[in-house]
Amino acid sequence: MTESTPLTRRTLVSIGSAVALGAGALVLTACTPDSSASGSGAGSNPVKVPLSSIPVGGAVSARLGSTPIVVSQPKEGTVVAFSAVCTHQGCTVAPADKEFDCPCHGSRFDAATGDVIAGPARTPLTKLTATVSSGTVTVSN
Ligand code: FES
Repeated sequence: MTESTPLTRRTLVSIGSAVALGAGALVLTACTPDSSASGSGAGSNPVKVPLSSIPVGGAVSARLGSTPIVVSQPKEGTVVAFSAVCTHQGCTVAPADKEFDCPCHGSRFDAATGDVIAGPARTPLTKLTATVSSGTVTVSN
């Protein structure tokens, strides 16, 4: 009784290589960075917004490089700015009176502090640096 061992060995090597290649591809896929989560705008040039365009007790949307931002004026002459990237899953929040509302899952943030008013987001919006000079607001990271 003889069995055809060369064919069996070759088949095993082929299967083993295919499995190894498949595992390698899987690992590469799993290690691919999520480019949608970057967008921090780090290193972006400051953005200027006319103070008169921001309602007292309200806010406006703008962009700092590639990052959507919101700039609010809780009290006359007092300005704060935040990344508009929702801390839940990254949608863009929008000004709504004294809040920033996320259209994706309903998180609400305080426009004066960036704190969470209602989830599912658990962490505040990222605060940015905002300064006022001669009627112009300058926002930077
Ligand atoms: Fe904003 Fe989910 S991404 S609430």
